[in-house]
Amino acid sequence: MKNRKKRFAICGLSSRGIHHFVLPLMGKNWEGGPNFNDRAEIVGILDIDQARVKGFLDQTGANIPFYPADAGKRMIEETKPDVVIAVGPDYTHCDHIVTALENGCEAISEKPMVINCEQVRRVQAAERASGRAVKVAFNYRYTPTHKRLKRMILAGQLGRIINVEFTYNLDAWHGSSYYYRWNRQRANSGGLSIHKCCHHFDLINWWLGDVPEEVFAFGALNYYGAKGALRPRDAKGQPLGPADEKRQCPIFQKYYAEKVSPESNTIGTGWDYANLTSNVQYPPDKRRYIYDEQIDVEDTYSAVVRYRGGASMSYSCNFATPWEGYVLGINGTKGRVEITHHSNPNPTGKSDPAAATGLITFLPLFGGREEIEIPPVPGGHGGGDFVIQKDLLDAPSPESQELNLVAGSEDGARAIAIGEAVWRSIREKRSIRIPELLAGK
Ligand SMILES: NC(=O)c1ccc[n+]([C@@H]2O[C@H](COP(=O)([O-])OP(=O)(O)OC[C@H]3O[C@@H](n4cnc5c(N)ncnc54)[C@H](O)[C@@H]3O)[C@@H](O)[C@H]2O)c1
Repeated sequence: MKNRKKRFAICGLSSRGIHHFVLPLMGKNWEGGPNFNDRAEIVGILDIDQARVKGFLDQTGANIPFYPADAGKRMIEETKPDVVIAVGPDYTHCDHIVTALENGCEAISEKPMVINCEQVRRVQAAERASGRAVKVAFNYRYTPTHKRLKRMILAGQLGRIINVEFTYNLDAWHGSSYYYRWNRQRANSGGLSIHKCCHHFDLINWWLGDVPEEVFAFGALNYYGAKGALRPRDAKGQPLGPADEKRQCPIFQKYYAEKVSPESNTIGTGWDYANLTSNVQYPPDKRRYIYDEQIDVEDTYSAVVRYRGGASMSYSCNFATPWEGYVLGINGTKGRVEITHHSNPNPTGKSDPAAATGLITFLPLFGGREEIEIPPVPGGHGGGDFVIQKDLLDAPSPESQELNLVAGSEDGARAIAIGEAVWRSIREKRSIRIPELLAGK
C-alpha cells in the first residue's frame, strides 16, 4: 500500500523507550533529534503500569491503545504492527521478541537483547522458524569516536590486533543507581556483566570483527547490597533504620540529600524526565535502596577474554569510582591506539557536550604519534543516539551499512554470552567456553 505509515508497537514504556523510540516516532524528539511521524506511527503500548501509560498519553495528548503485560499476542492481533520494540526491563525482551517474530512482525530490542544464553536460543529459534529478524539497539557503536576507530582498524592502521586493554568505570552516582532499580537482580537484568557490560563487549567484538571463545573472571559485590562497604552501621555494627541509613550514607549525602528527603522511599535517577509514576514497578511502600538484601549482582569485574582470531582482552569494570568513563588500549602488529574518555565529570544525569569531544591517540610501533580529535556532535551517547534512531526506525544510512553498525541477534548473543560467562566464571571459579554456553551444554 502506497504511503502507508510503518506501524510500531512498544513493549515497556520505559524512560529509555520514551526518549529513544516513542518521542521520535510521535514527532516529539528532543534536543533536535530526528522525527519519524510522517512515516511511522505507534499503534499500541504494552506495560505493567496502566497509570504510567495514561500519564504519558495525557501529557502528550496522544491516543494509543494500552495493553497489559501478558497481552503481547493480542496487541499484535488487534493493532497489526510491522515492528515490535522490546524496551521494558531486560527480562521481558525475550517473550516480546519471540511473540513478535512468531506473529508476523519484525523486532527491535534495546540492549541487552535478552538476559542469558538460554533466551538467546529461544530468540534465534524464532528467527529461524519465522524468517524474520531482530535488531539490537547497540548505540555505543554509533559514537563518532567509536566509528572513527572502527575505520582505522578496517583500514589496517593497527595491523592484526593482538590484545585489548579495556577499563570501564562508573562513578558512584551512576553506578549506585543500578542498585535501587530493577537492574539489581539477576532475574531482571542478567546481572550487570550483561546489562551494562554488554555495551563494552559488543563494542570490542565489533571493533575486532572477531568471535569471543573463552572467558575467565573474578568479581564480587563490594560497595552495595546488605554487606556493602559503604553501608552505615551503628556502634554494634548493625544496619541503621532506612532514613538514618540514608542520612549517613555517603552516596545519598553527595548526590541526593539536596533533592530527596531521607524519609522518602523514592529516589529518582534523573532520567525519567517526564516524571511519570512507576508505582507498579516500584510500590511506594516497599523499601528500595542500595543496601537491600535482594541485590544479587556484582559491582566489580576483572575478566580476560580470548577471541577466535587469536586476540585477547583484559577487561575491568567497577560501579563506584570517582570519575566515569573508560581507558582503552588496543595493540596491533603495526601500532597501538589509546583513548581515555571521561564521560561525565560532574554527574547530573544529563549529557555534557564538552565530554562528547573524542580523542584517539595512534602510536605507530616504531615511532611517531598522531592525535585524532573528534568534534562533539549533539545528542545522547556522543550523538550516536540520533543516528541509531534513523537506522532502526527508518533505514540504515550508507555509512551504517559500510561499518556494519546495525546489530542483529548474533551480535546480541555474543555480548550476552561474554557477560554470562563472566558471572558464571566468577561463581564456578573456572574458565567458561562461549560456544558451549551458547549451545546450552
Ligand atoms: N542503550 C542504552 O544506552 C540504554 C540506556 C538505558 C536503558 N536501556 C535499556 O532500555 C530498557 C528500559 O530500561 P529503563 O531503565 O529505561 O527502564 P524503566 O525502569 O525506566 O522502565 C521500565 C518500564 O517497563 C515497565 N515494566 C516493568 N515490568 C514490565 C513487564 N513485566 N512487562 C511490561 N512492562 C514492564 C515499567 O512499568 C516501566 O514502564 C532496558 O532494556 C535497558 O537495558 C538502554
